[in-house]
Amino acid sequence: MRNHTFPSFSMLMVVLLSLMAALTLTVIAAQIGTSEVEPHTDSPFAEKCYTCHGNEVAYKEWEFSGHKHALTNLIEGPYETRDSCLSCHSAGYDDPTRNWGEKQEITLKTAVNAVSCSLCHSHRSHRKDYLTKSIKSLCISCHKMDCGCAGAGIIHQSQSEMFLGREGAGVKRMPSPHVKVMKKRCVHCHMAKEDSETIAKHGGHTFKANFSTCKQCHEDMDQKIKKYRTEIEQKMQAVKAILDQANDREDENYKQAKLNYDMVKGDSGYGLHNAIYANALLDYSLSLEQELIGNR
Ligand code: HEC
Ligand code: HEC
Ligand code: HEC
Ligand code: HEC
Ligand code: HEC
Ligand code: HEC
Repeated sequence: MRNHTFPSFSMLMVVLLSLMAALTLTVIAAQIGTSEVEPHTDSPFAEKCYTCHGNEVAYKEWEFSGHKHALTNLIEGPYETRDSCLSCHSAGYDDPTRNWGEKQEITLKTAVNAVSCSLCHSHRSHRKDYLTKSIKSLCISCHKMDCGCAGAGIIHQSQSEMFLGREGAGVKRMPSPHVKVMKKRCVHCHMAKEDSETIAKHGGHTFKANFSTCKQCHEDMDQKIKKYRTEIEQKMQAVKAILDQANDREDENYKQAKLNYDMVKGDSGYGLHNAIYANALLDYSLSLEQELIGNR
């Protein structure tokens, strides 16, 4: 059973006078066995998942995840920030136990939380694990190139576009072969865990993928990945050389060749999430050589 009344107990003990303590104990005793929460704290995480889930592996793993640093990196990052950036970089301000509570407007000045539990879970959801979005669309709703903050001067990474094999220039759609075989998509590799009970170094709520997952279906992927990587990095150098020499950077061909290059580079540096598509994108960029530097 979850020990979910424990934090409320200690919290109230601190807050209430000793005279009130007896009464408090009675209230808490009455709550054991239900999933209601009574108390409120001024903790930055108004969502308060920790009061009930704080001792679980999910919570502890999340502490090691990149998601925990999403707000710091946003604010300290080199880009122009605006409040709308927070839709993916910060949450956890609404107390789910207070239905009547007002939804808080969070700004860059008031934000304190990173990618918290409630960006992915809500006890009000009817999905498995109370996910806020289908498991297929959860990660890609944030991990995409276009953050919807046009003009802010930032292009995010391209895992979603590369994995689904789309948005590149001059190349037909080419989803990764993994899209078909991985019902949970990103989650299949990034949350894979050998043992669900122990706190993992990768997988689970660390969200860190690991090449050991490949062994489920591939032999010898280590060698193959090395080969792909060398091949792709060579092509990237060739494309970069052409881009550097290009005469007209406003030209449509230049923009297309550069887009494809950026997509491959923006995905782990060498298009890891879809090697076949990465090759096709770079091949297209290379095919534009004549148009880009032909007059030299
Ligand atoms: C009052 C205590 C309480 C709070 C606060 C709470 N939970 Fe839960 N949660 C539970 C209990 C009890 C269950 C198991 C029964 C059920 O499914 O409702 C559960 C189940 C879950 C599950 C389903 C998977 C599982 O382990 O059974 C998820 C996911 C989850 N909670 C996430 C969250 C998140 C995220 C928050 C914060 C937004 C949160 N919970 C807040 C008590 C709580
Ligand atoms: C659609 C969701 C979304 C929005 C909106 C969003 N981001 Fe991000 N951001 C991400 C994701 C996902 C990552 C982590 C992976 C990556 O780098 O793409 C990230 C990473 C970052 C990073 C750290 C990595 C790096 O490239 O240095 C910075 C800085 C950043 N975002 C700035 C911003 C700024 C500034 C805005 C608003 C103009 C913004 N983000 C809006 C999803 C978003
Ligand atoms: C980026 C999205 C995301 C965030 C943030 C997140 N979770 Fe999850 N969580 C998931 C997904 C996806 C699953 C289902 C995993 C699966 O099906 O393999 C899950 C599963 C769970 C489960 C079910 C048991 C398990 O470990 O698989 C619990 C409990 C849970 N999450 C609690 C939490 C808590 C508590 C937090 C905050 C510390 C949190 N989650 C933050 C995406 C997220
Ligand atoms: C609400 C938006 C959002 C969702 C949903 C989301 N992420 Fe993230 N993710 C981010 C942001 C923002 C960062 C950037 C953290 C930072 O600044 O380093 C990030 C960082 C990461 C990182 C670390 C990247 C690095 O370079 O260290 C991984 C891995 C990751 N996310 C995987 C996932 C997976 C897998 C899912 C789906 C289960 C998911 N994310 C869902 C917003 C999101
Ligand atoms: C659930 C099973 C499964 C897992 C796990 C898996 N793959 Fe695959 N992968 C496939 C299937 C099916 C194909 C398409 C048929 C083929 O080419 O073997 C494929 C194709 C590929 C391809 C392109 C074709 C080729 O073989 O050169 C690469 C590259 C690849 N996988 C890399 C990886 C890497 C890296 C991992 C681990 C991070 C991984 N795969 C994990 C099932 C899987
Ligand atoms: C076939 C397994 C597999 C699938 C499916 C997968 N990834 Fe990855 N991902 C990996 C591996 C392996 C790494 C590299 C980890 C390392 O370098 O140790 C990685 C790296 C990453 C990184 C961090 C690397 C960087 O670019 O800096 C992010 C963020 C990420 N993946 C997000 C996603 C998202 C979002 C999806 C779904 C669209 C996804 N991944 C699907 C295996 C996978």
